[in-house]
Order: sequence, then C-alpha cells, then structure tokens
Amino acid sequence: MARHLQKLQQQMTRCIQGVWAAPSYRTFNTELRYVPRRACLYVPGNDERKLNKIPTLGADCVIMDCEDGVALNRKDEARLTIRRMLDELDFGQTEPIVRINSVTSGLAQTDLDVIFQADRVPPTFMVPKVDQMEQINWINDQLSSRLKLKGHNNKVNLIIFIESAMALLNLKEICQRGVRLSTERDSLMNLDGVVFGSDDFLADIGATRTKEARELIYARQHVITVAKAFRLQAIDIVYIDYKDVEGLTEQCLEGALMGFTGKQCIHPSQVNIVQEAFTPSKTKIEWAHELIEAFTEHQQSGKASYT
Ligand code: COA
Ligand code: MG
Repeated sequence: MARHLQKLQQQMTRCIQGVWAAPSYRTFNTELRYVPRRACLYVPGNDERKLNKIPTLGADCVIMDCEDGVALNRKDEARLTIRRMLDELDFGQTEPIVRINSVTSGLAQTDLDVIFQADRVPPTFMVPKVDQMEQINWINDQLSSRLKLKGHNNKVNLIIFIESAMALLNLKEICQRGVRLSTERDSLMNLDGVVFGSDDFLADIGATRTKEARELIYARQHVITVAKAFRLQAIDIVYIDYKDVEGLTEQCLEGALMGFTGKQCIHPSQVNIVQEAFTPSKTKIEWAHELIEAFTEHQQSGKASYT
C-alpha cells in the first residue's frame, strides 16, 4: 500500500505544474459552476489576524467558522468579523465559505442574521451536524427567503456535515431531499457537497482516533458512496497532527484514491500537500480529453454506440 501511495504521489507531483488551472474567484453571487474544493482550510471567525492571511494562502476554499473553532463567548465577535471580511477582503482565487452553527444549536438563526447583513453574500454555506432530512427544509427556507429579501436571484451552495451515527444512517434521505429541493423553482439553494466530520463521529460511536484511521474506513466509504450517488463532492477528515507531513501525505493520497474530492485542513502548512494529492493526474486528464475527443468523433461520424 505504502509503495503504491508513493508511486501515485510521485506521479501527481510531476504533473501538478501547468495542469491544474483553478478558476479565478472573481465575483460573489455568480452562476453555479463546478468549484474545486481540494483543500478546505478552517479559519476561526473571530481571529482577524488569520482571516487577513486568507488571500496569501492559496487554498481552494476557506471555511470562516462560527461553529466549533469559536468559543461560545466569542460567537458574536466571529459573526461580526466574518461579515466585515466578506465585504472588505479580496479573496482572489479562494472561495469564501461560512460555516454557521448547527440547526439544533439555537445559534444558527443569529449567525445568518448577521452574515446576511454583509453586502456580499458568500457563495457557499456549510452547515454542521445535519442528521435529519427535515433540517434541509429549514436550511433551504432560511437561505432562499433571505436571498430573495436581498433581491438575489442566484443560488448559494450548501455543504453539509455528517458527524454522527444517525447522520450516517440518514445520509441517503438527507441527500435525496437536498438534491430535490435544489431543483425546485423557488429554491435558491444548491446542495453541492458532504463533509465527513470525524471527531464528532468518533465521540458519537465511542471509538478512539488513531493515526491510520482504520476505525473510520466504513464511515468514509459510506459517505463517498452516497455523496457520489447524488453527484455531490465528498470532503475527507482532518489530519490533526499538522506538523506530521508524512502522515498527512499518506492520509490524503489514501482519501483521493478512495474517491474523496478534497480534505479539511486546520493549518496553512497542510494546504499545498492536500491540493497536490487531490489534483487529478496528468494521465487521468489526458485520458479524459481523449475520451471526449473520441466520443465527439464517433457521434459526428453517425455511429450510435461508443465503447
Ligand atoms: N488560517 C489562517 N492562518 C493561520 C491558520 C489558519 N487556520 N493557522 C495558522 N495561521 C497562521 C498564524 O497566524 C501564523 O502566522 P503569524 O505568525 O503571522 O501570526 C502562521 O500561520 C503560523 O501559525 P502557527 O504559529 O504554526 O500556528 P498557530 O499556533 O498560530 O495556530 C492553530 C495553530 C491550530 C490554533 C491554528 O492553525 C488554527 O486555528 N487552526 C484552525 C483550527 C480550527 O478552526 N478547528 C476547528 C475545526 S476542526
Ligand atoms: Mg464537528
């Protein structure tokens, strides 16, 4: 396994330059399109120094956090600081995401009240601890009605966190509901991805975190399977020991091989390693181009099937 990972890593490292062209994140409230989210870096919403570093870090996306990265007595400060950053900061190519508190926390409504006071609504919201499909209705109502009040016609993305045994069991229904609501005419929400929140999940099932994360294999595979069945992004666990480069490299290559599309990061030093691992290999990109070319040629020549 280790040799296989090493080989894949070498292959990816060789092809990164010039292959991955991240889209420029120019405007808020743009039309929906595929947004690569290889590294998703947490930045505590009340930490202005760290928030101001975002444009220099080169992450695909940042999670400006109102939830677990912020102490209860700092929530107001976090909301107000994020609101200001949304309007003031030039995020460059990085997608600014806001993670609010969970639907059942009693804090989410206030989070949204303050965040929606920003002139620039973030293109994507993350909602933690989604474990019942009814919560998706609430999120959809909140986002859609608030966007309409601001006169916005474009959708915002929603990425949900799965962090308990019950959430894992209900994941199919949750995604089904989210995807269906996303296609409804009066909805301004688009369910775009699922994050696996492993620390809360481990606490919920009474397991202990290990470096190899074998205790999470079933849950990770389940998250990938369901997310991909609904064509959603699947974002892998955090590697807590941010000083352990080798361990991180191995775990993110493993996640990429399993089918995850990206990974959560807690420190800027993790961003490049994660982004390299989740960049499609040159071979894979060439293969996809060749496949599309051959398919187009086949269709133009009037042949019906392509194998
Ligand atoms: N976002 C932006 N910048 C960050 C950062 C982050 N998540 N983490 C560290 N930095 C900055 C620091 O401010 C520091 O820059 P400075 O010296 O100019 O201030 C530089 O990167 C190096 O940081 P370092 O000294 O190694 O780490 P730290 O002690 O400042 O912070 C953590 C360590 C773990 C507290 C910090 O990385 C963090 O807050 N991570 C997010 C944790 C989180 O949100 N968890 C909840 C979700 S699981
Ligand atoms: Mg959590």
